[in-house]
Amino acid sequence: MGKDVIIACDFASAEKTFEFLDKFTNTKPFVKIGMELFYAEGPSIVKEIKARGHKIFLDLKLHDIPNTVKKSMAVLSNLDVDMTNLHAAGTISMMEAALQGLTREDGTRPLLIAVTQLTSTDQERMENDLLIKEPIDKVVMHYASNAAKAGLDGVVCSPLEAGKVHDTCGKNFLTVTPGVRFADGDIGDQKRVMTPAEAKKIGSDYIVVGRPITAAEDPVAAYERCVREFVG
Ligand code: C5P
Repeated sequence: MGKDVIIACDFASAEKTFEFLDKFTNTKPFVKIGMELFYAEGPSIVKEIKARGHKIFLDLKLHDIPNTVKKSMAVLSNLDVDMTNLHAAGTISMMEAALQGLTREDGTRPLLIAVTQLTSTDQERMENDLLIKEPIDKVVMHYASNAAKAGLDGVVCSPLEAGKVHDTCGKNFLTVTPGVRFADGDIGDQKRVMTPAEAKKIGSDYIVVGRPITAAEDPVAAYERCVREFVG
């Protein structure tokens, strides 16, 4: 898989999701399904979107004991998603177990991406709530290298961290980056943002874009603009 734009389908129902996806008559964008939609609609939403011909990143961020994660990943793999994720904080053993669960009998599997520290966790909360006293950048890179050691394919990170992740974990280790905005767009609640063109320059492999596309007056045009800027 090469560079691609993933649309974050942060809708609360299947109806709203299909109303949105129906606008795309000529292309089948890669879509991200998160917890809200998955918990509202269940596995059928994944099967239906897949049957329409889209690639799917199932963003459920698993974090549990290795055996539970392994078995749950086997279920997600059977849903035929293309990419899924977990928390690197679950340890290297949990990530290895996840990969085993995800691998199908024929040896194929969806891409597996780790979340390092959530962007909602800052230095102060990490020190006070989690008792992790190291600088957050160091923690993020350490978690990324743990993910690489476990054999995962990449991490979710800010586009600002993508270059450093590639330096630490190798060029082929994937960076999946949210926090993307058009130069002339609203930044909303995102704090540190980049344009699709900047994300391309810094080496992001996939950008995850929600509201700049889903809330646009013409979502198809906004998606196509993203692809033009990011993929070229
Ligand atoms: O609408 P927007 O483009 O901000 O959507 C970004 C998507 O990426 C959302 O689904 C959000 O939950 C997700 N995300 C993020 N920041 C992270 C991890 C995931 O914005 N650090």
